[in-house]
Amino acid sequence: MTAPQLQAVRAEFDAELAAAGRDPARVEEVRIRFAGRRSGVLRELEERLKGLPREEKPAYGKALNELKQYISERLEQARRGVGPAREEIFLDVTLPGRAPRLGSVHPVTLVRREIEEIFLRMGYSVADGPEVEDDWHNFEALNIPPFHPARDTQDTFYLPGGLLLRTHTSPVQIRAMETMELPLRLIIPGRVYRRDSDLRHSPMFHQVEGLVVGEGITFAHLRATLEAFVHVLFDPALKVRLRPSFFPFTEPSAEVDITCILCRGQGCAMCSGSGWIEILGAGMVDPRVLRACRIDPQRYSGFAFGCGLDRVALLKYGLPDLRLLFSGDERFLRQFGSEGAL
Ligand code: PHE
Repeated sequence: MTAPQLQAVRAEFDAELAAAGRDPARVEEVRIRFAGRRSGVLRELEERLKGLPREEKPAYGKALNELKQYISERLEQARRGVGPAREEIFLDVTLPGRAPRLGSVHPVTLVRREIEEIFLRMGYSVADGPEVEDDWHNFEALNIPPFHPARDTQDTFYLPGGLLLRTHTSPVQIRAMETMELPLRLIIPGRVYRRDSDLRHSPMFHQVEGLVVGEGITFAHLRATLEAFVHVLFDPALKVRLRPSFFPFTEPSAEVDITCILCRGQGCAMCSGSGWIEILGAGMVDPRVLRACRIDPQRYSGFAFGCGLDRVALLKYGLPDLRLLFSGDERFLRQFGSEGAL
């Protein structure tokens, strides 16, 4: 009798015990066959030990003891019902667990939440509207009639039935002014779509729209609001600059720049040497837009602004390429947002 033969006995025992499953009567049969006092397999093996030449006894005895130990342990487990029916399903509850992988919050979501919070603290409400829009809300009511050149700059995705994917969040201004009571103060984040794709443009991106309408609202309110916003979101030391501009739905209109956050106004590659970075478009709601929503421009006035969320995320986190935000690359995304913020 040699060690390989003892291995074979062990394998046979394993197979029989596995076949017995958790049936106590069958486990007992296996016990009797292998570990039975009078005629068990182990008993027989012990008998053979006696007949072996002296020099073979120690090795054989050791292997046999190990086998005995193994068999009695496995039988004990099987009897207690905690032993595995098959080796493969053995579950060691003392092993350290595998922690579930938590996701992280997307940088655009982080920035959106931060902006919402800043405006909520200023008394605004968060609103939204449909991404599939009609011509009236996306263009017409915003003082962009058919064939107006402003339509070309928006590179619209048109859908069947006169519908389109909204090219900006401004249509929600119209929906709000058509349906809500005045005065109103709204912050409106959402997805928008344009046929545009390169380093700085993605066909789907995010904007956040602001709208305030009431009596006695002036351009000074707009300027003060944007300054407060920029100072809380980025840094109180940043300057805000308003440049005259044009939007069909605001009059007067401005493009809003902040001190370049990379070079602090010195001039660098990010700000093309100007020291300024454009972050939003804004203006006083055009009287024609108010009238389209049946609001009397003699009594009410308002301001609106629109800001690219993705661009703000790039600036805030110092990211080189817009496409990173939409890549879905976990190695990139994992660096943002803690589990606590989920
Ligand atoms: N809707 C404009 C755009 O997408 C931004 C804007 C919003 C400008 C509100 C002025 C007022 O470019």
